[in-house]
Amino acid sequence: MKRKVSLNRLARYEGNVPRYTSYPTAVQFDNNVGFRAYKQWLQAFPQDEPVSLYIHVPFCDELCKFCACNTQVVHQANVRIVYGDFLCEELRRLAVLLKTRRQVNFIHFGGGTPTTLPIEAMKKVMSAIRTLFLIQDCADISIELDPRHISKDYLDLLSLLGVTRVSIGVQDIAPEVQRACGRIQNFELIADCIERVRQKNIKSVNCDLIYGLPNQTAVSVRNTIKAIATLKPDRLAVFGYAHVPWKFKRQTLLEGEVLPNPAERFEQRQIIDDVLKHEGYHVIGFDHYALPHDSMSKAVSHHTLHRNFQGYTVDNAKALLGVGASSISILPQGIVQNQPSSLAYQKIMQKPDILPIARGVERTVEDLFRWEIIERLMCDLQIDLQKVINQYKQEPSLLGEFQEKLRPFEEDGMIIIHNYVVKVTEKGRPFLRNIAVIFDVYYRVAPHRHAQAI
Ligand SMILES: C[S@@+](CC[C@H](N)C(=O)[O-])C[C@H]1O[C@@H](n2cnc3c(N)ncnc32)[C@H](O)[C@@H]1O
Repeated sequence: MKRKVSLNRLARYEGNVPRYTSYPTAVQFDNNVGFRAYKQWLQAFPQDEPVSLYIHVPFCDELCKFCACNTQVVHQANVRIVYGDFLCEELRRLAVLLKTRRQVNFIHFGGGTPTTLPIEAMKKVMSAIRTLFLIQDCADISIELDPRHISKDYLDLLSLLGVTRVSIGVQDIAPEVQRACGRIQNFELIADCIERVRQKNIKSVNCDLIYGLPNQTAVSVRNTIKAIATLKPDRLAVFGYAHVPWKFKRQTLLEGEVLPNPAERFEQRQIIDDVLKHEGYHVIGFDHYALPHDSMSKAVSHHTLHRNFQGYTVDNAKALLGVGASSISILPQGIVQNQPSSLAYQKIMQKPDILPIARGVERTVEDLFRWEIIERLMCDLQIDLQKVINQYKQEPSLLGEFQEKLRPFEEDGMIIIHNYVVKVTEKGRPFLRNIAVIFDVYYRVAPHRHAQAI
């Protein structure tokens, strides 16, 4: 088969590594860093700098057995309404600490399924955001939705609230894959959902796909990607199935199903890559694709692409403020995460004047230096090591150390190093996470920490 990767090489890189949506990664968070630290960081954040918002809603209408997100099936409207009120209160407490009404250019509603918030609750949350923050006219407002559970009224609401992009969970359209995953949604339903979204003048559509799911084959993946490409989503996120049953018990429901092996996963990934490139998509880092008009494609050519907890993003704000259970906030001084369980989150929110932080990590200059290398490599596929060492005033001896550690990747043709500039080749692109590990001082090989790289 064309461009089949050698099994030896795959075996070398198939270990479990972080996705590097931050550095240090979540494994480094601990409960010594909490509300006190976060409060100081917020108060010190420059008033003229924009902030971005991530709002987490941890409810779904149905359980997907593969899901590795913080969510649970909750149907009671009153539970969802109360949760919405806590989101408003948390936004208010954040605004008090920030003192002035801060500019916001990016808002993302994630989950779970954020459209499980009842219409009135969603209106209240959005109105709280608009009152407490200064949403720019051109703001990017995005929301994840489940195509099986989105009513006409809800789409009207999203349009009214100024949503600019929806992100739809597709994964795979083959009935045998959907049955195994407990998520039945045929192609017509997905196509209809996208059409309805576009009719509401919501301009941008993202589809999430996954390879490596139970029963997925080269044939099912090819059929899926060819069919989805006909719908012309503006963006696609293509994730390798993260099988982490030690973290998400629901994945044990997949026991007995056959998961594709690493070589099959790689082949599936390659098929998606080939079809999307053929259909005119630009490749974004190691797991996103975008049409040429999309801001992500433009960000790649302008070297302004970034990474945060949502994966690749064009958001360039220096502060991302997470609201809701389990959400993560990133500021220059450090990273904090809210209480992951929605019950614990609501219990803390019942106390006055604090934010529901569970744990976090402060960032040292060395952390910021290493993040600069990891982020630029993952976004630009290139980094000038000499320049960044000088910029962050780090030990010059690191140059030799890095070069030594990068040698196996050089020998495998995954990177080229010239004058201390590291360039990742197309062959190396799927292995960006493995290359990034070289710069991670905290990384420890441990079986139950991260998901498979490929
Ligand atoms: C919060 S989920 C669901 C979005 C939306 N609520 C829906 O139902 O379609 C967001 C995305 O995370 C990705 N995801 C969830 N679990 C995953 C896993 N175990 N491995 C890889 N990707 C996963 C899926 O692509 C999914 O669409």
